[in-house]
Amino acid sequence: MSRIKKLRVSIYGQLVFWTSVILVLLMFGVLFIIQNREVKSIYQDKKNRGLVMVRYIAEMNVRRLVLWDLDPIDENISGLIRDDLAYVIFYDRNGRPVVVSESIAGNADVINQTSCAGRVSPEDVFYRNISLVSQGKSYKVMEIEIPIFVPGSETKWGSVKIGLKLEDVQERIYKTRLVLLGFGLVALLLTILSSNLLARRITRPIKNLVEGTKRISRGDFTYRIPVISSDEIGELTQSFNEMTEQLLIARRQTEEANRRLVQAEKLASIGRLSATIAHEIRNPLTSVKLNIQKLAESEKLDELEKEHLAIAQEGIDQIEKFIKELLSFTRASVLQPDYFSMEEILEESLKMLKPSLAEKKIILEKDFEKDLPQAYVDGDKLRQVFLNVLRNAYEAVNEGGKIEISLRMNREKDRPCFEIRISDNGCGIPEKDWENIFEPFFTTKSSGAGLGLANARRILEQHGGTIKVVKKDGPGSCFLLTVPCQTPSREE
Ligand SMILES: Nc1ncnc2c1ncn2[C@@H]1O[C@H](COP(=O)(O)OP(=O)(O)OP(=O)(O)O)[C@@H](O)[C@H]1O
Ligand SMILES: [Mg+2]
Repeated sequence: MSRIKKLRVSIYGQLVFWTSVILVLLMFGVLFIIQNREVKSIYQDKKNRGLVMVRYIAEMNVRRLVLWDLDPIDENISGLIRDDLAYVIFYDRNGRPVVVSESIAGNADVINQTSCAGRVSPEDVFYRNISLVSQGKSYKVMEIEIPIFVPGSETKWGSVKIGLKLEDVQERIYKTRLVLLGFGLVALLLTILSSNLLARRITRPIKNLVEGTKRISRGDFTYRIPVISSDEIGELTQSFNEMTEQLLIARRQTEEANRRLVQAEKLASIGRLSATIAHEIRNPLTSVKLNIQKLAESEKLDELEKEHLAIAQEGIDQIEKFIKELLSFTRASVLQPDYFSMEEILEESLKMLKPSLAEKKIILEKDFEKDLPQAYVDGDKLRQVFLNVLRNAYEAVNEGGKIEISLRMNREKDRPCFEIRISDNGCGIPEKDWENIFEPFFTTKSSGAGLGLANARRILEQHGGTIKVVKKDGPGSCFLLTVPCQTPSREE
């Protein structure tokens, strides 16, 4: 089946074309009417002037015609033939030419043509346009003929006809057309320009909308289409932006759900692995440990052998600690919440770390908001969270370093929450690892298990809270922890 490719004509192109066509047709219609009126009025001017002239000639010569004194008439009219007056012809009552101006003598067609041969009334005026050829040049003439009556009587005595050259009329018509054509061209230009502007005005929001849909279809949900009109397209753009906002929220939620799913799967496989490790390693390890202990108690050993055994014991202790940490991390435990003072939990965590802090001469700065409500949380678990983060800070700073802890309540959100910031001026974390450090087993330390932060995030998420690294001024890193301020029913 052959596919016919449809010619793509943009809305912009269609608008420009159709508005231009309509405006041009309208404009030419108007110009045509103006031109016709102008031409009519130019001819009317000529007619009026001719009528005045022919009446004047008739009046001047009526007595002479009545008295049949034709020679003075001839003299009189030969003096009048100049400018646009081409000829004058007097006819008798029967329509026979009696006086003919020199300028038309010999042109029998013109001379013998009279409109007043029959019955006419004194008010009758006859007009006729004819073409004449003189010296090989053709020109147009307007003939005006009126009957001559004896003054005070109803007897027709003859008629007089004049021929007026229409050169000036044609010149005026030509000039008028030229002006109108110029005007038409300017109007045509303005029409195309204005239809262009109009089309651009109408299609710009549509173009923006198309651009927006393309970007969103490429997955850029952060893009917002500028709303530049308050019409239906503006409304559509607004709704589109709202839809994109919803899509962005949905995508973030899906990503978060996916992350949690992956995390849960990871934890489950770590759980299975650690159970196997516990089963397969712990028992032989205990037996190795007991045997080494027994061996160490022997009095036959010299100092060097005792030293080697002590190193082996240390290694076994480290393996045991790791297995313990692994098991405690993977053991899915249910929260046991109660009312606690957040400040107290923080203080208790600090207390556990105090000897180490003192040893490294670390400066501790606390900034706790006063009179905060009690938190409904699992105190032991949160203590573990703070301890993990604080221990990392302690490990990151050099001797004499500084750790800052702040506690405040963020009431701006729809769900108020405790915000705990723990920052240090230690080695810092490269921005590319800000998310990775929460992955289980991610560590940069030789003796680290890489489970401290993964554990902290899991516990906080169980509480509906969050933990992330945020920007800070100066060297070091800053962790922001949030715990929702829950108000459960008293029965809980
Ligand atoms: N305050 C900090 N300053 C610099 N790096 C940090 C800080 N906190 C965490 N990190 C980095 O994040 C990594 C992961 O920390 P996490 O606490 O999960 O594991 P760990 O400290 O390596 O081992 P452990 O399981 O014993 O806590 C660390 O190895 C370290 O590279
Ligand atoms: Mg740690």
